[in-house]
Order: sequence, then C-alpha cells, then structure tokens
Amino acid sequence: MSPFRITRTLPEDATGAALRADVRRGLTGSPMTLPPKWFYDARGSELFDEITTLPEYYPTRAEREILLARSGEIAAASGARTLVELGSGSSEKTRYLIDALTGLRTYVPVDVSESALALAGRALVAERPGLEVHALIADFTAGLALPGTPGPRLVAFLGGTIGNLLPAERAAFLASVRALLAPGDALLLGTDLVKDEEVLVRAYDDAAGVTAAFNKNVLTVINRELGADFDPAAFEHVARWDAEREWIEMRLRSRTAQTVKIPAVDLAVDFAEGEDLRTEVSAKFREEGVRGELAAAGMESVRWWTDGEGRFALSLSVVR
Ligand code: AVJ
Repeated sequence: MSPFRITRTLPEDATGAALRADVRRGLTGSPMTLPPKWFYDARGSELFDEITTLPEYYPTRAEREILLARSGEIAAASGARTLVELGSGSSEKTRYLIDALTGLRTYVPVDVSESALALAGRALVAERPGLEVHALIADFTAGLALPGTPGPRLVAFLGGTIGNLLPAERAAFLASVRALLAPGDALLLGTDLVKDEEVLVRAYDDAAGVTAAFNKNVLTVINRELGADFDPAAFEHVARWDAEREWIEMRLRSRTAQTVKIPAVDLAVDFAEGEDLRTEVSAKFREEGVRGELAAAGMESVRWWTDGEGRFALSLSVVR
C-alpha cells in the first residue's frame, strides 16, 4: 500500500452548501456575523501565511519556540504511534513533533484544504521513509471519525485556532475530541494567552495592513462563490479587545449606508453607515480556564508550557 492516502469525508459540495447556510444565517442576524473559516481560500491562506511573519503577530513564533524546546518532552510523555493533527494546513510546525516522535508510524493530517493536505503529505512521506500518511479532508468542527490506526494516539490542535470557537462550541468540540481518545491517548493544545490589550490589538491590526486585507478577503470569497457585489473598499477593518469575554473580535465596518446583493442565497443585505459585520472571534486564555475546559470534557491537563515571554501556551492532556 502507498504510504500516502487521502480520504474525503466531506461531500464535494459540502463547502458550497455550508457557505450558503452560514451567509444566510450570519447576514440576516443582528449583529451580523460570519464564521472565520471562510477566510481561507488560496489567497486567504497566502495572506494568513504572511500574517505569521509580521512583527506584530507573535503567536506563530511563540508556539514554534515552545515546540522547538519541548518536542522531546512531548514525545516522551505521549509515546505516540499515531499523530492526528486537526487543521494541519502546511504541517510546518508539526515537523518538530514528527521528528521527535521516534515510535511514530502514522500521521493523520485533517484539514478542509485538499491542496494543502496533498502538498504537505507528499513531502512528508518522501522525507520520512516508513511513515504512513493518511490525510483526511474533513471539517473537524462537524464531528470526526478517524481511521483505525495504532495507539497510543496524540491529537494536536495547534496555532490557537481553538480560540475561533465560541465557548459553547469549544465545549462541544473538546467533547468530540475526547470521544476519539482511549485511555493513554493525549491531546496537545495550543492556546494564545490573555495579555496587554495594546499587544493583542496590534497583532490583529498590523501597520502593513496585511490583517486588514485578510479580513476583507472574506468578502472576495463571497463575491466569487455566491455572485455577491461587496466592495471591499467600502468597509473598514476593525480589531477590538472584549475585556469581559477576553477575546479579540475582527469586524468589517460599513463606511456608508449601502445594500449588497448576494444572488446565490437570494439576499439583499442593508448596511447602515458604521454598522459592523463580525468576522472572527479569537479568544485568549488563562491556565486555569484551559484546565477547567479540558476537565469538563473529561481530559486531565498534565503539562503546561509557555514561551519565554509567557505569551502562548501548549498543554498536554490525557485520558485516564
Ligand atoms: C489561525 C485562528 C489562530 O486567531 O490568531 C490571524 C487567525 N486572524 N489574524 C488567530 C488570524 C487574524 C488566527 N488563527
């Protein structure tokens, strides 16, 4: 059998149907919202990669620092023979883990992007003879089934992407991860931490305007996929810290009163001048909160590592 397999668990048109449903629901509600997963077409993924290199956007560098320093400990603690990575993207930071996991037999990257999975998967099997890569095209927030692979398993969810889920969605997601695990399996979770408001806001509103372009790209996606007539220049990029809920919100603020047509869902959406469309929530965490949410889902957090400046954390939790 080839060491690289790719399995689609999403029906071919699942993406189009899900986008239409999200746009219909999000733009007829008040306040208007869109889920952040629609940022990531080819252009959006490129813009996100650029964000990760910006001086203001610290999470990627902070997490890489932790992985570089701690991969040996993570590997020793988990002893994993299967590594499952949710939202694997380019699998770039995962290399440290894969290299450290000496007993690793199977890597299961899970992503909605088939192109990212194919690229990363082929490169990995070429680099690591003996490693099986079984890529899954799947939306991991919509319930997950894994191929039968050898245990112990380590599930990695990196980058702080869990912060994109609202608290109730997070609880449901963690419970669904727990349901995949058997005693002895583990979860490696990346979480961005609460810090100075100014540092947080700058990370989501950089001087070069890359995050603004990333935010507005969702309008381009809706124009292309649903035949809409959004003018990205008619919206202003806004990043704000919600101190009570401890999350960053990205919004698109209508510069004028305007009506946008979205033919594929048969909508005409009225924006008042200054009206906001919320495009992303990026929650920031504290150690006690992360431990509590993991415990509520039936997992016990056993290790907690941060970067030298205490900006970002990786935690390892187990199922007893
Ligand atoms: C990929 C979800 C971790 O929330 O920081 C970056 C996405 N949004 N800049 C984050 C993002 C704006 C990012 N995650």
